[in-house]
Amino acid sequence: MAALDNCYNIFDLRAAAKRRLPKGVFEFVDRATEDHLALAANRSAFEDVKLRHRSLVDVSGRSTKTMLFGKPAALPMVIAPTGAAGLCWYRGELALAKAAAAAGIPLTLSTASMTAMETIADQAGGRLWFQLYVWKRRDLSYQIIERAKNAGYEALIVTVDSAVAPNREYNSRNGFALPFNTSPRFLLDVALHPAWTLGVMGRYLTTIGMPKHENYPTQFQGTITSGSAGRTDEMRLDSLNWDDIAVFRDKWPGILMLKGVNRTDDALKALTYGVDGIIVSNHGGRNMDSAAATLDVLPEIAGAVGDKCTVILDSGIRRGSDVVKAMALGAKAVLTGRATLYGTAVGGQDGASKAISIIKTEMDKTMAYTGCNTVDEISTDIFFQDWRSNQH
Ligand SMILES: Cc1cc2nc3c(=O)[nH]c(=O)nc-3n(C[C@H](O)[C@H](O)[C@H](O)COP(=O)(O)O)c2cc1C
Repeated sequence: MAALDNCYNIFDLRAAAKRRLPKGVFEFVDRATEDHLALAANRSAFEDVKLRHRSLVDVSGRSTKTMLFGKPAALPMVIAPTGAAGLCWYRGELALAKAAAAAGIPLTLSTASMTAMETIADQAGGRLWFQLYVWKRRDLSYQIIERAKNAGYEALIVTVDSAVAPNREYNSRNGFALPFNTSPRFLLDVALHPAWTLGVMGRYLTTIGMPKHENYPTQFQGTITSGSAGRTDEMRLDSLNWDDIAVFRDKWPGILMLKGVNRTDDALKALTYGVDGIIVSNHGGRNMDSAAATLDVLPEIAGAVGDKCTVILDSGIRRGSDVVKAMALGAKAVLTGRATLYGTAVGGQDGASKAISIIKTEMDKTMAYTGCNTVDEISTDIFFQDWRSNQH
């Protein structure tokens, strides 16, 4: 695919996605919230860490392979839950899931995704994790958990950093909303992007009809052009609390993780609730704009938790060297949100595969330069500066 051939890194995929998607959809994927402070902080935290190469080490046998929850993964990377892949590409979640399976890494399906978890499990193969947004009526959440259990998902990830809806002012300005509104601005935006309009919306219309949130409880499954397709009041999370985690632990026999942990006291408390993993995340800077960069809070949390549970990091991964830096500071793996979504928007499964392979290749090169043959050899020893200088 020509558009993909000209993409050599994740930033090229972003630029190609920007050309293909209507502005409203692209900004929903790409931007964050308010003044974009957290988005920038996430990136600069990675960029500020400098490495020193190690010479004369035989790294000809190196490998990015790792073990995640006792099972192999081709690299320490997992696809993050995003509710938007189905807007970027026709059946985009399936495309992403197939790319993840082919690459040998797990995929996390979002509650807000547009393809039913059962369809993904039937058609994608590979390791599948499910992300839960909690519903005000808890029985609705329990039904979703039951579905994920029956569909054979390996892990349940409860997102805990979204107490309220964020201020995404640009969505108001560019006319994007879920369900889509028919403002002249948004309709013009759609008309100016025929590849997306025909290839994504047109294909939905001529096959399965307008997508809907197939993992929502049945009564809330409006399509993206009608009904309650967005996050409704029913899905507000401001009452979510530790008692809920105790119930989820009880109901979910598999791997349980909390996504959006930013504090050491929260991480340590999570251990007492029997969670198997915590994801140090600020939602890619999409929620609280003054959030600290995840790479900056990671070492303290990982140090306190030790081997008692698996620590994963997300928010800001754009390069394979970012994965290495996160591993050095205590993460066992990273999640990628936008990086793999940009790829999906440009080329569906092929585009998602390209994004994964770009990050894998860059990670491999960073390991080679720094003299690491295995991911277990990655440590702060490869850093130039004392990373503690970043700590407050
Ligand atoms: C378009 C979009 C939709 C997202 N939807 C969800 C979601 O439904 N549930 C969730 O827990 N996180 C969601 N996230 C956050 C991601 O899971 C992840 O934390 C974040 O994208 C990581 O940052 P990165 O994009 O810089 O990799 C979304 C992110 C994006 C970009």
